[in-house]
Amino acid sequence: MSNKQESPSTVDKKAGTTERFSSAGFILAAIGSSVGLGNMWKFTYVTGQNGGGAFFLLFIACLLIVGLPVLMGELAVGRAGRGDAVISFSKLSGKKWWGALGFVSVVAAFLVMTFYSTIAGWTLHYAVQSISGALFESTDYQAVYDTFTASTAPIWWQIAIFIITGIVIAKGISSGIEKFNKIVIPGLLIILVIMLVRTLTLDGAAEGIRYFLYPDFSQLTFTSALEALGLAFFSLSLGMGAMLTYGAYVEKHQSLSAATLAVGAGDLAYALIAGLIIFPTTFTFGIAPNSGPGLVFVALPAAFAAMPFGNLFGGLFFILLAIAAITSCLALIEVPVAYLMRKYGHGRTKATVFVMIAMYVLALPVTLAAGGALSDVTFAGRNLFDWLDFVTSNIMLPLGGLFVTILVGFVWKGAGEETGMKGWWLKAWLFSMRYIAPILIVLIFLKYAGII
Ligand code: PFF
Repeated sequence: MSNKQESPSTVDKKAGTTERFSSAGFILAAIGSSVGLGNMWKFTYVTGQNGGGAFFLLFIACLLIVGLPVLMGELAVGRAGRGDAVISFSKLSGKKWWGALGFVSVVAAFLVMTFYSTIAGWTLHYAVQSISGALFESTDYQAVYDTFTASTAPIWWQIAIFIITGIVIAKGISSGIEKFNKIVIPGLLIILVIMLVRTLTLDGAAEGIRYFLYPDFSQLTFTSALEALGLAFFSLSLGMGAMLTYGAYVEKHQSLSAATLAVGAGDLAYALIAGLIIFPTTFTFGIAPNSGPGLVFVALPAAFAAMPFGNLFGGLFFILLAIAAITSCLALIEVPVAYLMRKYGHGRTKATVFVMIAMYVLALPVTLAAGGALSDVTFAGRNLFDWLDFVTSNIMLPLGGLFVTILVGFVWKGAGEETGMKGWWLKAWLFSMRYIAPILIVLIFLKYAGII
């Protein structure tokens, strides 16, 4: 019944989407989108590989100088355009071809979901295995990880992620995405605090905290700066039309600057807490903090095994990761769903089913490439999983962000008014959108293209 009510009427040809978040609901959903595997899984191992504290400072600088201005830009574009990236770009630029640039973001979100959901599925598996104690039956966690990723189990866990997120998305903005975030984000906070108390009372806590927070600038390279910027983008969900699409559901009276600050603070706080959980744990149990992407799935189970009530803390930790990953998946799926609803006049349920099926067709081989049957099928040295991660994170995402800065900085004249900012703040924001952000984005781009 509710599907019928939400059918094509949620997108009005002239006014755009008519669905809306409540003020608090939007902030929680946007924090839910930004807080994810990026902060806990990617942020900690990249910080570990770049020497710790100094890299964290760089990450904060990138978040403040580039990330927050671009986030504000995406929200303003979405709210003024009242639609997905394609329609908002062409409406605000006054040129239809800008829609093609917006389409890059829609495709990026679609592609990111195919591999992000693989890892999200792993977190569910690890949560269940940890709580049941099965995870700790062997002490060779690399072998456990290899056996799991080579089996067919990841396929089923990924399907579970698709089903959970599909149901929430089909329910709509206020009774789906907003409601889900309102329930799970406070839960996430509680689990974070429990984990934090546990890890800060470990024997190696002081050493871990020192590694994470004491800046040793000798460890930094130019590459670290670019990595910090890319991570800030990924972490704030920028360049994929996700914040832009959520922005389309924000009421006009809501302050975009307050929302930007809240999301930035939430994302940073989560990254800080993630570091304060991971590094004391790795130092206490003698695990190298720079052991790479396997840090969370291989190293931490070893640490949990050595802790009293480790299965419980391990279970809580992986549940935390799973919740954070699912709220991020919601934002990723909403991008193509919003596009289909507007473009073809589909109802929300139909658009969701269509997107989920299309995504899954690609997500299945991607999962098989992440340690499974297709992992050795490579093209130019990378398998399908690695290619998707590489192309989206390093090419499509910076490109999507760059288009937003150009649109806001040089093409769309109403950006300042949409944000409601005035005076010095407005000038600083526009300066960043016109010069600082695009130049830094182009630098990342040139680096990944191998030109610098
Ligand atoms: N910000 C998420 C994370 O840090 O894990 C990743 C992400 C989620 C990117 C949603 C884009 C998005 F639309």
